[in-house]
Amino acid sequence: MAKRLFIKSYGCQMNVYDAGRMADVMAVHGFAQTDRADEAEVTVLNTCHIREKAAEKLFSDLGRLRRPPRRRARNGWEGARIVVVAGCVAQAEGAEIMRRAPWVDIVVGPQTYHRLPELVRRAEAGERGLLDIDFPPESKFDRLPEEGAAQGPSAFLTIQEGCDKFCSFCVVPYTRGAEHSRPAAAVVAEARRLIERGAREITLLGQNVNAYHGEAPGGGAEWGLARLIRTLADLPGLSRIRYTTSHPRDMDDDLIAAHGELPALMPYLHLPVQSGSDRVLAAMGRRHTGADYVDLVERLRAARPDLALSSDFIVGHPGEEEADFEATMALVRTVGFAQAYSFKYSPRPGTPAAATGNQVGETEKADRLARLQDLLNAQQHEFNRRTVGRTVPVLFDRRGRKPHQLAGRTPAMQAVHVVCRDSESLMGEIRDVFVTEAHSNSLTGELAAMPPPLAHAPRIPGAGRTIA
Ligand code: 5AD
Ligand code: SF4
Repeated sequence: MAKRLFIKSYGCQMNVYDAGRMADVMAVHGFAQTDRADEAEVTVLNTCHIREKAAEKLFSDLGRLRRPPRRRARNGWEGARIVVVAGCVAQAEGAEIMRRAPWVDIVVGPQTYHRLPELVRRAEAGERGLLDIDFPPESKFDRLPEEGAAQGPSAFLTIQEGCDKFCSFCVVPYTRGAEHSRPAAAVVAEARRLIERGAREITLLGQNVNAYHGEAPGGGAEWGLARLIRTLADLPGLSRIRYTTSHPRDMDDDLIAAHGELPALMPYLHLPVQSGSDRVLAAMGRRHTGADYVDLVERLRAARPDLALSSDFIVGHPGEEEADFEATMALVRTVGFAQAYSFKYSPRPGTPAAATGNQVGETEKADRLARLQDLLNAQQHEFNRRTVGRTVPVLFDRRGRKPHQLAGRTPAMQAVHVVCRDSESLMGEIRDVFVTEAHSNSLTGELAAMPPPLAHAPRIPGAGRTIA
């Protein structure tokens, strides 16, 4: 019988993607994934270090995984159940994890999880305290099995990792290391495999995805993100392309133009601005102003007028004063976001911002976050409300909680729920949905009537491919 592997992921989509690749690499070694932690021989906690809460969650979960040695032995767990901590907290605090939770068998960083089967084999043989947080010379992507598990209609594909920007507040350049792009040919090959296994939509992932500069197939000048997306847009069967996360400074003219030219490139962009205050943006080391961001948004909207924008915001960065926060609120009002993520600044060990003296008090941070979130929520609700009464193409990629309910996404990433008899047959399909209701985080709709089939319709290869 296959041994079982349980993976819990914290944090970003990149981590969810990594969890999938860990499952792929372990599958080759006879491990089947389970969603029940209690029956797994190997439990992986795939961690995120970007904000405080994620690391706290890890230690509380590790507390639950701890077993008194005698009980472990009686239940036959001793030596059989292996606890792995992976991801960015593993990278940044590997030794500390081993010290605080000595029942952890393996700590493995985001760059070396292709070595997980070997580490598990050593742990099964009785080795304890295995720590692998190298930045190895080999790329993990070259060591992963090509035959990964299917991801379904909406798939992720990591094309770039790491970051060289060193924003004052951020641990990513330390935990994920220097910027590294995968060769374009490897990305296209992986995209083809995902499409063969049912993907209609691919989201290209990277910590700084629009800084992508991959080796060109057959040599020559490196490809930027726009060149890569243009090639992917021509792959038969792929209807939707997205990418995340972008930095405003890497939004070049070609990429902006691609938003206007490629129907498959969805009209939704996550473009973190962090703050609207030039003083704070400078302190953050973002190397652009609030006006630069607004100007960029205007150019993007000139190319693609229906572009929905999302962003990340940090309130209470060291040195932020009320007037700076007001500048953030003003930027939000000017741009108008379809949705956004906002966080209280949390000092991350080893980052420059954590070491400065002018930290903002907890009360101010909480107050500013509440005010910002009120505004962002109102904008999101308004954006969703404007979709009511319209018909939008929805890619159905999940079952809903209710019987016969299906869930999917609009081009602008809004979640849509539809109830229909034939729900199973619609999985992975893009269908027009008439939106009847807006909620703060989702929409409800009804399938729009299909046009009657044409009698003797000619079958032209490629015709009828939905571009949405
Ligand atoms: N404190 C709060 N938020 C942070 N982020 C990154 N580092 C921190 C931090 N130290 C947020 C940024 C980033 C998102 C992924 O997480 O907004 O864009
Ligand atoms: Fe972190 Fe993004 Fe800044 Fe890189 S660009 S340091 S990942 S916030």
